[in-house]
Amino acid sequence: MCGIVGIIGKNIKTTEIFDKLEKLQYRGYDSAGICIEKDNKFYVHKETGIIDNLRKECPNLFGDVIIGHTRWATHGKVNKTNAHPILSANGCWAVVHNGIIENFAELKDKFASKDELITETDTEIVANILEKGKGKEDLQNFIFTCEQLKGSFALCVMKKGSKSLFIAKKKKPLYVQSIGNKTTIASDPICFEKGEYFKMEDGEYAVANFDNVRFFDCKGRLVSKQALKCFELVSQISKNGFEHFMLKEITETPQKIRGLCKHYQTIDWSFLKRWWINKVKLIGCGSAYHSCLVGAYYFRKHLNIDAEALPASEFLSDNAILDSSTLCVFVSQSGETADTISALKKALKKTKKIISITNVDYSTLASLSPIVLPICAGVEIAVASTKAYTCQIVSLYMLVMALKSKMRNAVRNVLNLSKRLDRFSLDVSKLAEAIKDQKNIFYIGRNLDYITALEGALKLKEISYINCNAYPAGELKHGVLALIQKDVPVIVLVSNKRLVQKTLNSAFEAKSRGAKLFLFHSQPLEKIDLNKFDGGFMLPNVNNDLTCIFETVALQLLAYNVSVMRGLDPDKPRNLAKSVTVE
Ligand code: G6P
Repeated sequence: MCGIVGIIGKNIKTTEIFDKLEKLQYRGYDSAGICIEKDNKFYVHKETGIIDNLRKECPNLFGDVIIGHTRWATHGKVNKTNAHPILSANGCWAVVHNGIIENFAELKDKFASKDELITETDTEIVANILEKGKGKEDLQNFIFTCEQLKGSFALCVMKKGSKSLFIAKKKKPLYVQSIGNKTTIASDPICFEKGEYFKMEDGEYAVANFDNVRFFDCKGRLVSKQALKCFELVSQISKNGFEHFMLKEITETPQKIRGLCKHYQTIDWSFLKRWWINKVKLIGCGSAYHSCLVGAYYFRKHLNIDAEALPASEFLSDNAILDSSTLCVFVSQSGETADTISALKKALKKTKKIISITNVDYSTLASLSPIVLPICAGVEIAVASTKAYTCQIVSLYMLVMALKSKMRNAVRNVLNLSKRLDRFSLDVSKLAEAIKDQKNIFYIGRNLDYITALEGALKLKEISYINCNAYPAGELKHGVLALIQKDVPVIVLVSNKRLVQKTLNSAFEAKSRGAKLFLFHSQPLEKIDLNKFDGGFMLPNVNNDLTCIFETVALQLLAYNVSVMRGLDPDKPRNLAKSVTVE
């Protein structure tokens, strides 16, 4: 993954690049580094961990050319040596890289001697191929170097004394903004000021100098590029008084759902009427995969159509049976998840009936998709998805309702949901306290509740590092009960009237083996002995399709509370990144 930034201009301060790198931390935060050029010298500073560590350790410097990097390690341990920028052996080239150079071992044999390479990264060879290109023009050398690389890359490169930044990309996002005498390069336009910017395409090259940025094709010929329109300015993103982004983002859920509902009423859904669909595949990763599971449930329930959700990586590994009548729906908050993008490319070979549901309208996924539906969740900073996940569910619900020609009902139901969510608050601190030191936690539910259980367990494991697993309630007796011991917490979800008794029977089987039961229910349980539970919460019941959103928000709050009580940072869980741009 990784995030890269480059700036060229007069007297750029290191603080400016730190601010931009902070916005890219969703791409990884194993280590961070900068290289700044001043008076023909490179000053390189690197630290492991978040940008703040670098900010604290790095002196305030300023210079005219600077590159920076925030890393999610793929090749080589997390340490200062492997942190970017990576320098060539003679120290004249500095490189920041996002992606994976798949043929790096082969290139090392060809272009570098062993003692020239000091890192374990796949990136170091790039700097050294550049160094070997003596005699060639800098741009020619840069193009030659990029042409040697197999795999994926977004590169921003400095050459000592050249007063230039060289950039190129393949399969990884990279954007450029030139304002006045300053050019900024970044993995995401969230780093830019309000104004126009350029999106780099695969096979394009750019050279930024003090007064301009020029784009070239692979033969080094100048190309002109269309600037993209201004986008929503997201530079003022703040926690707004909340201790963490995650809590702020959970709180924003009803407002974002309302915005989505308003937007979806303006969409011309007539394209759906022209489509003959025989089956549906919904594809995503992580939480987005869970929203696909919910979406598949909606398709089956409301349209009686064969619908299946798959993790993108599994869709890629399998012999996916698709034809031109298959509707494929891709769901991704970032629109940059590598597996989801590859899955979309695979599906495009078989069907044009493709809809992508994403939060980022300029993302790669959006640019490749015939139809794009926005999630309208606004920028989500916390790594664990919250409001984007719930908005994905509402988006899928409205899509299915549009196909069923029941948009008015959908709008009424969604607006009712958002109003009830406005008034919804839940104090889960006692439950969080009760489970925060556990080693294993189980989540159970049936049907839609099982999917919510999967998402609840994922949320908790992501940010608390407790081993949490979700099971269909009816499956406990087929193996999982062997793991139930005294005081093991089992979180039980019950939202469907028809399934109450069956789910509770499964829960009581666990109770008989010593489990502690904690119940989240939205059905009245008059005849149930609540004394059998060690804790419980009654949630609002809106309708069978959308009540899962209350359960989801409750479980998000639970995960958040446990994480904070364990002294962790819920916004930045270890080893994870928000945007996973490697397969
Ligand atoms: C990462 C994040 C998850 C997210 C998944 C898919 O694993 O940690 O929270 O659900 O990627 O991301 P996407 O941007 O495709 O929704």
